[in-house]
Amino acid sequence: MTAPIPHLPPATPLSEPESRRFAEDVIAGLTAPRKHLAAKYFYDRQGSALFEAITRLPEYYPTRTELGILARHGAEIAATLPAGAALVEFGSGSTQKLRRLLPHLGDLAVYVPVDVSADFLRSEAEELGRDFPSLRVAPVAADFSRVFTLPPEAEAAPRAGFFPGSTIGNFEPEAAAALLRHFAAILGPQATLIVGVDLVKDKAVLEAAYDDAAGVTAAFNLNLLARINREVGADFDLAAFAHRAFFDTAQSRIEMHLVSRRAQRVTVATMPISFAAGETIHTENSYKYTIESFRSLARSAGWEGRAVWTDPDGLFSVHALTASSIRRH
Ligand code: TRP
Repeated sequence: MTAPIPHLPPATPLSEPESRRFAEDVIAGLTAPRKHLAAKYFYDRQGSALFEAITRLPEYYPTRTELGILARHGAEIAATLPAGAALVEFGSGSTQKLRRLLPHLGDLAVYVPVDVSADFLRSEAEELGRDFPSLRVAPVAADFSRVFTLPPEAEAAPRAGFFPGSTIGNFEPEAAAALLRHFAAILGPQATLIVGVDLVKDKAVLEAAYDDAAGVTAAFNLNLLARINREVGADFDLAAFAHRAFFDTAQSRIEMHLVSRRAQRVTVATMPISFAAGETIHTENSYKYTIESFRSLARSAGWEGRAVWTDPDGLFSVHALTASSIRRH
């Protein structure tokens, strides 16, 4: 197995307003009746490196399974795109997955990677240009969940979207539907969307993927506290918290938590925060869908299921959706 590169931008240091926002979010989350922290803060330099290590773990099947589906069915997946399409990738952390499709997309008008990290976008675009000299690349530095304008090359062509990595599963179902509606609004009529979605499966397989034997996911989760210590100014004792991940069948989601091993008090930016023994901080959800449950979510957001591909073990799915009713931004 080659080392898969995660679908993630590299960590860039937070700007001053972002740092202030980070501190505010942390305080708000830790003073809430049920303590929580926003998953977007996982990805500092250390967190991004740990996530990359997660994607290579034997237990973490999603990345390599999705890459396998894209490699095996790349021609069929590419065939669902309109001829001469502009392909917009939402959150293009790496071009690894796109590269499985490109050999089958000879007539692509333009590739539009959308990512918050402008530096990273530039270097990835340059590298793609070297490997696929005839490919037009028009990067957009933007948060894909906000309204942004497509480059003129993409406005002139029929559009397709690409959203791999099962990132859709990290949104609450309502927010996931809103995001899919937003993609429809950006892409416009007759758009196609290729989206990677992790599937519901045996609980033990799911839980192992988020709680590996080597403890890399635990280190990834705990790194959030280390980051708060460094960047917000806190005295979390990492040894006093444990990683916990479990599948909640009723909500069809993996929940990740940090569990306080004992009653303790932590100071976060001069604010005292008390933990009861066993109290948890909720850090992440990863929703799992069936093919049908994802199609019905997509339908509620203006997309019709057109085709779907899975691996032989039915672990992961890649959907091709077509826009049914569109209201552009
Ligand atoms: N979207 C992927 C997933 O839910 C990747 C991911 C996001 C992840 N946050 C994570 C993986 C936390 C492990 C731990 O699987």
